[in-house]
Amino acid sequence: MNIPIRPRRLRKGAATRELVQETWVRREDLIQPLFVIDGEGVEQTVGSMPGVSRYSIDNLVKKVDALVSQGIGSFALFPNTEASLKDATGSEALNADNLVCRAIRAVRAEFPEVNLFADVALDPYTTHGHDGLLNEAGNTVLNDETVEVLVDMALNLAHAGADWIAPSDMMDGRVAMIREALESAGLTETCILAYSAKYASAFYGPFRDAVGSAKAAGTPSLDKATYQMNPANRREAILEAQLDLEEGADAIMVKPAGPYLDIIRDLREAFNAPLAAYQVSGEYAQIHAAAQNGWLDLEKCALESLLAIKRAGADMILTYFADWFSKR
Ligand code: PBG
Repeated sequence: MNIPIRPRRLRKGAATRELVQETWVRREDLIQPLFVIDGEGVEQTVGSMPGVSRYSIDNLVKKVDALVSQGIGSFALFPNTEASLKDATGSEALNADNLVCRAIRAVRAEFPEVNLFADVALDPYTTHGHDGLLNEAGNTVLNDETVEVLVDMALNLAHAGADWIAPSDMMDGRVAMIREALESAGLTETCILAYSAKYASAFYGPFRDAVGSAKAAGTPSLDKATYQMNPANRREAILEAQLDLEEGADAIMVKPAGPYLDIIRDLREAFNAPLAAYQVSGEYAQIHAAAQNGWLDLEKCALESLLAIKRAGADMILTYFADWFSKR
């Protein structure tokens, strides 16, 4: 047969395949989420997320040390707040000495060069587990009132030393208000990574276990779908990202990642801004669970899942696999 174009020619050996490979995952692309808990000498495994733990600050610093020597330079810190510190308005979020602020300062003191991302949303601090303030009837998350608190929360985190403020709350207008407050406070170098297209996803389950905010996921009278995006929507993601960029975000995000590769591609094509994707807890857990059953190859599936997110167009990936990836 005379077949002039044979794509298989470029697949014949590993060296050739690598030469023509279009997408790569690098350690430098990855942001490791880390969970912090009060205490000393604590390392608590998270049952639904094999290989992931909640660390007390002393152990967190050791974990960051290990990850830095593995080549990971970016971290997103999430506090598991003690129940006694939670209230209806999430007031602990504004405490300059709260767990996550202490964690940021401790890591910053040892590792001045690392990139620290801090989430802005009230869910780790509210008794009801929602990302914002509720109205009196408890059947709606108030937008503008919440934004006012989030602005103070963002300033608190930036003053503690966060390089990136990452609003994950999905309130309208919050990026503009946070940007304005950062500028007014002279915090002109603090970046904003907006969770722009954050979907009301069922894939966050294990995370809510890790930070102890599970309650909101099941509040029958008030669903996170009243602020997080409908998984059925594509065009709306463009609107959300456009607003966040106009309001002063430095980078935008799609979350979850794997089930939303089309959205990653849409935002990649619509905007020039750096694009992040969050491979969330449930995406991590499902690969591990299948591997534990002997149904999937953990390493190959983990790598393929990350590669697919890069291929879709993400510049950076928040992933619980960063630790594993950088040890390979
Ligand atoms: C909090 C927040 C969530 C995640 C990141 N920030 C959970 C939620 O919205 O309930 C999920 C991350 C994950 O599942 O890995 N606003």
